[in-house]
Amino acid sequence: MKVLLVSPEVSPLSKTGGLGDVAGALPQALRQVGVDARVLCPLYGFIDPESLGKTRQAGSIRLSIGGAARRANVVETKLPATDVPLYLLQHKRSFDRKGIYSDANGDFTDNDERFLLLAQSALALPSAINWTPDVLHLHDWTVALTPACLNALPSGDARRQWASVLTIHNLMHQGVFPKTVLDKSELPHEFYNANGLEHNGCLNMLKGGIHHATKITTVSPTYSREIQEEPFAHGLQKSLKHRAADLIGIINGIDCAQWDPNTDRSLIRNYSIPDVEDGKTACKKDLLETLGLPQEEKRPLFFVVSRLDQQKGLDLLANVLPKLISDHDAAFALLGSGDPLLESTYKSISRENPDRVAAVIGFDEKLARKLFAGGDFLVVPSRFEPCGLTQLYAMRYGTIPVVRETGGLADTVTPWRPGKRSATGIVYEGMGEWELFLALEQALKVYRSQKTFSALRRNGMQRDSSWEPSAKYYAKTYSWAVEQRLKTIRKEEDLKP
Ligand code: ADP
Ligand code: GLC
Repeated sequence: MKVLLVSPEVSPLSKTGGLGDVAGALPQALRQVGVDARVLCPLYGFIDPESLGKTRQAGSIRLSIGGAARRANVVETKLPATDVPLYLLQHKRSFDRKGIYSDANGDFTDNDERFLLLAQSALALPSAINWTPDVLHLHDWTVALTPACLNALPSGDARRQWASVLTIHNLMHQGVFPKTVLDKSELPHEFYNANGLEHNGCLNMLKGGIHHATKITTVSPTYSREIQEEPFAHGLQKSLKHRAADLIGIINGIDCAQWDPNTDRSLIRNYSIPDVEDGKTACKKDLLETLGLPQEEKRPLFFVVSRLDQQKGLDLLANVLPKLISDHDAAFALLGSGDPLLESTYKSISRENPDRVAAVIGFDEKLARKLFAGGDFLVVPSRFEPCGLTQLYAMRYGTIPVVRETGGLADTVTPWRPGKRSATGIVYEGMGEWELFLALEQALKVYRSQKTFSALRRNGMQRDSSWEPSAKYYAKTYSWAVEQRLKTIRKEEDLKP
């Protein structure tokens, strides 16, 4: 099975969130289960050529936006420290920038054209590298028009046989543009309808993908059910229900070699289950010093590592944090960036409570790792969470997640309740601040019982969050998609006059 994964970000070269992690780790796991998985991603201006190792110019491909020809180069290399072939799409005018989707002035105004190029290049790349995929695996809205591009190919074109799998990582981001973008995409006008690319009078790239892809996956089973109802469907309920038979939820894994407290070079001390207590104490000391918080190692430390976005429910947490630290002997640290209002809210809570609260605004993977290792409780109060990776990293590092019961959080954290021996975290229901506050108090209760705390910690570290089972599930999904695509093509041939 040959599969080209197409993504706007791929870790460790480019990442704004979990999508980058998935695009970096999944192809490695796929290759281990026998899939010839390769990755296509843009060559952004911030990617350090030194980090790429050996590269080769694989040739150039012709693309076209609204009838105007564009030429892009393909740089062939390997995903760092792996054997995964990586093709970097080099189009300086579109991608030689400091951001993936945006910069300090907001979203790039030419994101429609930039990502149409990426979506189209999935069809053009294989002949340039002399390799024919069975499946194009597209990730999120930026490349969600690729399945429609496949369906628009003339019937004699051999590429029509390629199946497409669209993975929805986050339904909130759909790629909505004015109708005029249809002409730029050069897709047939008949694709612009309510069972296709049109939504509320605009062109909606993700909706186009949902209607045109052979199979659709989401990143957890619970999220695949949630998105068939509003508000989780973000307006696309009808489309998702329409494709329900082809919609599959596959839970994300993590790269257990890259995220291992026993080898992580960001940590002052490495540890594993047998020496977790000593290891985490050393890491907590180091973390408190880094954060400028007092060396009160016995004080429970809650923390967040997150994009600051409405999705993540961090406004709710900001509202209960002052009460948490005034009612209890607890500390808190935030690492995140995004919404300026949330950034300033957390900064001001930290200014008012300098001995208890630290707020670091920015994106800092080393500090994120120190938090997973040195913190006691990761808090994830998301309104919705397609999968979530931070709770998986936390558990692997012996940190107890406190999460809302939604999406992948519900699928990956085993809830604590008295007598439950396999628990790995605190899971709470309800969207409100009060439910969140009670969950944080429950965490403190667990913290006070050394036996329970230590059991949850160890259970989390023992949890298998590796990619292997999910990679096998994707491999099966690819086979189903290929079978289904061939049936569709055969049917079309039969119907030909
Ligand atoms: P999402 O993709 O919605 O942002 P995930 O939990 O799936 O959420 O993935 C987030 C990823 O981004 C994790 O690898 C997390 O550690 C990382 N991350 C988020 N914010 C930061 C930050 N400010 N600094 C470093 N890493 C971050
Ligand atoms: C999205 C989701 C997150 C998920 C990640 C990787 O950004 O918000 O829940 O873990 O994609 O699939």
